[in-house]
Amino acid sequence: MPIQDYHDFLDKILIPEDRLMARIAELGAEISRDYAGEELLMVCILRGGVMFLTDLMKHVTVPHAIDFMAISSYGAGARQSAGRVRLTMDLRTSITGRHVLLVEDIIDSGHTIAEVLNILSLRQPKSLKVCTLLDKAERREVEVPIHYRGFVIPNEFVFGYGLDMDEYYRNLPFIAVPDLKRYRPPQPDLEGTS
Ligand code: IMP
Ligand code: MG
Repeated sequence: MPIQDYHDFLDKILIPEDRLMARIAELGAEISRDYAGEELLMVCILRGGVMFLTDLMKHVTVPHAIDFMAISSYGAGARQSAGRVRLTMDLRTSITGRHVLLVEDIIDSGHTIAEVLNILSLRQPKSLKVCTLLDKAERREVEVPIHYRGFVIPNEFVFGYGLDMDEYYRNLPFIAVPDLKRYRPPQPDLEGTS
């Protein structure tokens, strides 16, 4: 069965593109002021944070490099964080003695970012801060420091702008809420041909 058109299960658009872009420009300006005179390493957690990173870095005027790491906490089909995370891809560069800014799509229970902060702080960066586009504050299970926050959102599952539903729909330029009653997850290929 083909992947559903998102219109078939869209409940509402929570944050339209123009609001995302305006807020991201503000965050970039704030980061640029705070790190003035310094150099920065922006670390993106794959894959949800990719869109946010690329738009954010356009507004960061201090010299900065980027790097990527991947963590798994959600299995395909799952809607809740497992509360346990695994480092599936490490950074390519050393962070020791550098200013590091973690760029995340969303902080939900907080387990993912808490674990990443643990791992990275052992490497003795000069500083380690967190920038998240979305903060589902109501759902927090572990306390995590958030230095830059785009939007606080209600406790609803969201997709678009980097965030996926079973790995699809990350390309949408807005943050949306699905009507899960109308959503049909992609079916595994029963023929076993792929
Ligand atoms: P946490 O460990 O519970 O804070 O979960 C953080 C990760 O779960 C995020 O980086 C996302 O990958 C994923 N996640 C949490 N809430 C949502 C959501 O509403 N939509 C899509 N992904 C989500
Ligand atoms: Mg993520």
